[in-house]
Amino acid sequence: MSELEAAGMLPELLRIAREAGDIVMQGYRHGATVTKKGAIDLVTEFDLASEAHIIAQLSRVYPELVVIGEEGQAQRAESRATGGLVCFVDPIDGTTNFAHGHPFFCVSLGICCAGVPLSGVVLAPALGLTWTGRAGAGATRNAEPCHVSGCQQLGNALCATGFGYQVVGAEDDNLREFAAVQSHVRGVRRCGAAAIDLALVADGTYDAYWEFMLQPWDMAAGCALVLAAGGRVSAFDEGPLDVRNGACLASNGHVHGSLARLLDEARDGRPVPLR
Ligand code: IPD
Ligand code: CA
Ligand code: CA
Repeated sequence: MSELEAAGMLPELLRIAREAGDIVMQGYRHGATVTKKGAIDLVTEFDLASEAHIIAQLSRVYPELVVIGEEGQAQRAESRATGGLVCFVDPIDGTTNFAHGHPFFCVSLGICCAGVPLSGVVLAPALGLTWTGRAGAGATRNAEPCHVSGCQQLGNALCATGFGYQVVGAEDDNLREFAAVQSHVRGVRRCGAAAIDLALVADGTYDAYWEFMLQPWDMAAGCALVLAAGGRVSAFDEGPLDVRNGACLASNGHVHGSLARLLDEARDGRPVPLR
C-alpha cells in the first residue's frame, strides 16, 4: 500500500476505533480481569478483545496492510513493509488507568511509512474525546479542526511526559528530566497514556511532550496528529523521529528547541534509552 492510499483511510480507522472504544467501555469500571505482563505492566481481556476486533476489521478492509498490535495478535514482520504502510495498534493505551477506573485511556491507530507517522486516530471513550489527523492535511478534535498552541516561551508552557514500565525503577528513570523541566515551565503533567498526551499537544492543550522507551504503537497515531495540527515531532537530538526508536519529543514547534536543550542538559551526556 502507498502513502496515497493512506489519505483515504481515516474514515475507516475512525469507524474501527469507535467500535473498539465501545468494546473497551464494556469493561470500564466493571471489574475487568487484570493479568500482569510484567511487574507493573498490565493487560485485561478488554485489551485483547479490542485488539482482536481492530485486527479483524483492518484485515478485512485492508488485506495488504501490515498491522502490528501491542498484544501480539498481529505482528506480521515489519520488514515486509519496506516502502509500504504499517498500522500500529494500541488497543488500550493507558491500561493501568483503565484497570483502575481512571478515564485517561484510549484506542490508538497510527499509520506510518518507514517509521514516519502519516495519519492517526486517538479515541478516548471515557473522556468523550476523539482526535483524527493526517500529516499535511489537518487535524480534528471531536470533528472540529484543531491546531497546536501558539505558546512561544517555554516558561509559559504546560508540558507532559510519561514513565513507562521499563523506565520506572530503572537507573535512567526520567526523573532528572522531569525535575529540570518542571522548574522551567508552568507545569508538567503525567497522566499515563502517551497517545492522549500527544493528542493534547495536537489540540493545543499541552505545548510540549517528551518520553523515551516508548513502543511504536504508543506514539504512531499521536505523532501523526501533532504533525497534522502544525506541530513538530523529533528525536531528542531534534533529528528525524522514527516511531520504532522509542524516544519522542513533540511540541507546537516554538518551544521545541528550548525543551530539547533543557532535556539535553538534564541528561548530561547520557545516551537516550530507546526501545
Ligand atoms: C503506556 C502508556 C504510558 C507510557 C508507557 C506506555 P500502555 O502504554 O502510554 O503513558 O508512559 O510507556 O507503555 O501499556 O498503557 O498501552
Ligand atoms: Ca496498550
Ligand atoms: Ca501504549
